[in-house]
Amino acid sequence: MQLKPDNCSIIIFGANSDLAARKLFPSLYELALWGNMPDDYRIVGVGRADLSHEEFRLTVQEKMADLFPETVRDEAAFSLFSARLYYVRVNLVEIDGYHLLHKELLDVSGESGICKNLLFYLATPPSLAPVIVRNMELAGLGEKDSICGTWRKIIVEKPYGRNLQTARELNSVIGEVFSEKRVFRIDHYLGKETVQNIMVFRFSNGIFEPLWNRNNIANVTITIAENFGIRDRGAFYEEAGLLRDIMQNHALQLLSAVAMEPPVDFSADAVRDEKAKVLRSIRTFTPDNVEQSVVLGQYEGYRSEKNVAPESTVETFAAIKFFVDNWRWKDVPFFVKAGKNLAETLTEIVITFKCPPQNYFGPAESCSYTANQVIMRIQPEETIAIKFGAKRPGEAVITDPVYMRFDYKTSFTESGLTPYHRLLLDAMAGEQMNFIRQDSVEYSWAIVDAIRDAVGGQPPESYPVHSRGPESVERIYS
Ligand code: BG6
Repeated sequence: MQLKPDNCSIIIFGANSDLAARKLFPSLYELALWGNMPDDYRIVGVGRADLSHEEFRLTVQEKMADLFPETVRDEAAFSLFSARLYYVRVNLVEIDGYHLLHKELLDVSGESGICKNLLFYLATPPSLAPVIVRNMELAGLGEKDSICGTWRKIIVEKPYGRNLQTARELNSVIGEVFSEKRVFRIDHYLGKETVQNIMVFRFSNGIFEPLWNRNNIANVTITIAENFGIRDRGAFYEEAGLLRDIMQNHALQLLSAVAMEPPVDFSADAVRDEKAKVLRSIRTFTPDNVEQSVVLGQYEGYRSEKNVAPESTVETFAAIKFFVDNWRWKDVPFFVKAGKNLAETLTEIVITFKCPPQNYFGPAESCSYTANQVIMRIQPEETIAIKFGAKRPGEAVITDPVYMRFDYKTSFTESGLTPYHRLLLDAMAGEQMNFIRQDSVEYSWAIVDAIRDAVGGQPPESYPVHSRGPESVERIYS
């Protein structure tokens, strides 16, 4: 059990956002219910709307009642939580509100102490992050103004910038106000139990790691598929597209967890060193290799979604063949596919091993039919299966694929925390392993920028809703 975090104030910029309503307030409330929050804490919402503390409490309650009715059923518990909510109206691009916030943080609950721990959470559009951080510093809310051994930290939501240049700018602005050990770049995939288990699976077992390399592995496929569209996030998607929304972060983080070297120890930086090295080793995309390596798609009907341009060329699907050009992985393809409105919702990593040197049992293709695989199902099921060939009962020697399967649900009685529970607790505790370091952010953007440049102005291929993506996706597998 994690130790209780220090008493602190959590300041949420974008307190009226969808993310705050869906993830942040419910997670904080549940952590409070379970006794995981600090003994004393406050949550200060920051937004543009003109709300009193009481109105803000009611708004949070109404949204939670709407989204997750069961969470607010215990009125007594909810009102204890609600009493810890405060609100400050801030026009994020003007300094005045930040002074108000500063005052509120010092004076709230009638306390006047200046020795406070402050955890800032930017649940705001990426373009606002630099201006918020600059204004925070001007108003004396940055790290250098913390005294008496207290801390100030910042959690930044993805995407961090929209390309390498803006990510660097953002990193440099944040770097002027907070040291790297106080910066928590969140990618909620890293808070998933099944994602954290990739490292445990690889490095706590003796039998897999010796095989985990180009000598034995034929390819790796990573799939992040969703059977729903962009929902009501047209404006965001038009800005981001799938490469920025999912490839740059979730998909490349899964890839680096599969491909990383064993860290020198299990510290945040040692682990993040190894992930960064993988991203740095990814083969560059150029106009010459992009045709065989990248397929972008857009689902039919995307252009009629709310807040989407009628001629939009934004991608909602990407299938990409990556190569990690290092000693362990040279020439092993990593096929990564992600998309909206596909046939099913599924996140999965499949490691396919090479066939044995001789095939005694049947036709040539039987090898690929029974090829050994490690299949890590990240969600919705939380399983790992190992596929191997077994003799079908009977006189003839016919090999069929069979599976050995581990399922979190049946092997463990405890259920894990959700990603936002876990990552909020980690940030309060100052544990950075499951947050993305500046170098990895930049390497990932360099990859995505190169893909975008290599694709040029070529529009994405259309695909039917609930299909497997554009037909031409097959070309990257050849
Ligand atoms: C978010 C993306 O980061 O992750 C969404 O912005 C996506 O587009 C979501 O749907 C997927 O998260 P999960 O945990 O449901 O796989």
